[in-house]
Amino acid sequence: MSVREPSGGGAGGRGRGGLFRTKSVEQSIQDTEEPEHALTRTLSALDLTVFGVGVIIGTGIFVLTGAVAKQQAGPATALAFVAAGIACALAALCYAEFASTVPVAGSAYTFSYASLGELPAWIIGWDLVLEFALATAVVAVGWSGYVHSLLDNAGWQLPAVLSGPDVAHGFTFDILAALLVLLLTGILVLGMKLSARVTTVVVAVKVTVVLLVIIAGSFFIKAENYHPFIPEPQATAATSGLKAPLIQLMSGYQPTAYGVQGIFTAAAVVFFAFIGFDIVATTAEETRNPQRDMPRGILGSLLICTVLYVAVSVVVTGMQKYTQLSVDAPLADAFKATGHPFYAGLISFGAVIGLTTVCLILLLGQTRVFFAMSRDGLLPRVFSKVHPRYATPYRSTILLGVVIAVVAGFTSISQLAALVNIGTLFAFVVVALGVIVLRRTRPDLPRAFRAPWVPVLPIASVAASLWLMLNLPAETWVRFAVWMAIGFVVYFLYGRGHSRLAARPERR
Ligand code: ALA
Repeated sequence: MSVREPSGGGAGGRGRGGLFRTKSVEQSIQDTEEPEHALTRTLSALDLTVFGVGVIIGTGIFVLTGAVAKQQAGPATALAFVAAGIACALAALCYAEFASTVPVAGSAYTFSYASLGELPAWIIGWDLVLEFALATAVVAVGWSGYVHSLLDNAGWQLPAVLSGPDVAHGFTFDILAALLVLLLTGILVLGMKLSARVTTVVVAVKVTVVLLVIIAGSFFIKAENYHPFIPEPQATAATSGLKAPLIQLMSGYQPTAYGVQGIFTAAAVVFFAFIGFDIVATTAEETRNPQRDMPRGILGSLLICTVLYVAVSVVVTGMQKYTQLSVDAPLADAFKATGHPFYAGLISFGAVIGLTTVCLILLLGQTRVFFAMSRDGLLPRVFSKVHPRYATPYRSTILLGVVIAVVAGFTSISQLAALVNIGTLFAFVVVALGVIVLRRTRPDLPRAFRAPWVPVLPIASVAASLWLMLNLPAETWVRFAVWMAIGFVVYFLYGRGHSRLAARPERR
């Protein structure tokens, strides 16, 4: 294999062999051309939008809406979705610029390698692999919950020991969640084409069900359920001790739910409902025309989902008083509460189908980040060989699929959703900073999509993401700090010494 000198800046002299050595954009693109480590380009803009919608609409709207309306924001939950949507739109414009400039696998990881340097890239990659893995597990457990509810309707029940920690006490393993992850792992190993086709059908079912909630539900709205639209602030169990949002603890006042602050607390939680548009960027290397299609795929899917979320939350909080909303299956239960169990059954069925694609694409996104990190030598290279027949990174896919299946079997949703959010928001901060840095260090690179108002827009994106992070519970910050500390140890013990960038002959 020959390695040519990159034509421009990239690493330059900055930190050669050091923590801030950067991988040039030319190197990143060239790496994807090595046959043994290359993925095939099969995806169009429509495929990307379908992928986006497929992963974005999921546990967030189907499950979290109820808990958030009940415990944090009341009918103003719709405003929380608007706030989270604005933060995501700002981040999406930064993602779109980066994805169209550095069209290779790895998402924020690759982007930061090309702009901020190896250590920041490692931090973000470590962050992303685990975030996607945990998010996959969270959604698999949510999926299993809906399947249990459908089985219940049919009069069947699994033994408690196989139903998972959300349903039973003592030693339990959520067999359905684990089996789902293993099945999807198999589909991914067989190739993108198959998974894209399956995804298209499933996304259609899911969007139909969401539209059903909005259209049918709007006939059952009662105006009095919207009063008060923003409930009075009050201290609750959800705001006690380290469960309180960090920003409220820092303010020194008694932390409260509801009120205007409650809308932001809710926004930090329902942010989970938007996670996924960034995963569209992780498939850049498999996109036919990334320069044109990435921004279309990312912004298109985000816009569709934001409109649907606001509409769903307005309808659901209008159908049922927020204090009475269910926490496990709020959309279906709102229909049951208004005397329409048939619709409730349809919605549960759609949720089961819909959460399957969310799981699939989250799994896909994180195997691709792991693949890119392995190809760069920051993780063992053995994981970045692609399958000779299916052209998929099968080793990393199988490894991570098995690990996630185990995590999904043993974990409860509530423990992990906030952790997924803080990590993803952190990735958004790094990407937005990366846009500013790369505009300065590589102004020459062609950018099919340029974010408007740089650097004002990326700075606004950083501020919005940080604000949502600060509205997450203090205990989530502690867990995130521990997690990142482990990442530092792994980098200094393995990645730093094995980095392929460090070994490139022209860099010595
Ligand atoms: N946005 C995805 C969901 O809500 C992760 O499930």
